[in-house]
Amino acid sequence: MKFFVDTAEIGEIEDLAATGLLDGVTTNPSLIHKSGGDFIETITRICEIVAGPVSAEVTATEADSMIEEGKRLAGIAPNIAVKVPLTWDGLKACKALSSAGTMVNVTLCFSAAQALLAAKAGATFISPFVGRLDDIGQDGMVLIEEIVTIYSNYPDTLQTEVLVASIRDPIHLIESAKLGADVATVPPGVLRKLAQHPLTDKGLAAFLADWEKTGQSII
Ligand code: G3P
Repeated sequence: MKFFVDTAEIGEIEDLAATGLLDGVTTNPSLIHKSGGDFIETITRICEIVAGPVSAEVTATEADSMIEEGKRLAGIAPNIAVKVPLTWDGLKACKALSSAGTMVNVTLCFSAAQALLAAKAGATFISPFVGRLDDIGQDGMVLIEEIVTIYSNYPDTLQTEVLVASIRDPIHLIESAKLGADVATVPPGVLRKLAQHPLTDKGLAAFLADWEKTGQSII
């Protein structure tokens, strides 16, 4: 499973990229707003830090304008994935941009039918939002299972990667991995939580205390 980080905070991206565990980055207009940075400058900098796909979202709502914005964004770096919303215009833009060789991430997906359309439109990634489905009392993981099943029924024609988005906790990520999702995009805080376990901390403290008592050093 690939790990993307869902943020536009440059410091966080630099820190996580240094682990060697980061496969890509996703952003959206809300995350750009939160970062306070200039959109194009921020995306350009992220593409310098991370070699994998960097999602940058169009803000036009009509297909021709989306395509124009998508071309501008794709020109920033070869690892840009243009993010378009799952609307009819977004699907048209997805088809045009992906046919021209640009990676496209179709976002705001909340149903299997939408995911099927995105794959037929040539999306590189489909982004189902599990947390936002949970928020309205639907099980986001059921949607991931449906999409993974549908795509796996047509491996020769539907090659879109399932990029699980709106992940709120490590359980979302682990359940997505168990279902065979290709990518998880995770807020920095949740990504860090993946490494944490109280028994690890407790065990390490005990080992170090006993090591201290030996009076030895390795180097
Ligand atoms: O970037 C898309 C998605 O991950 C947003 O998540 O937490 O705002 O629902 P959230």
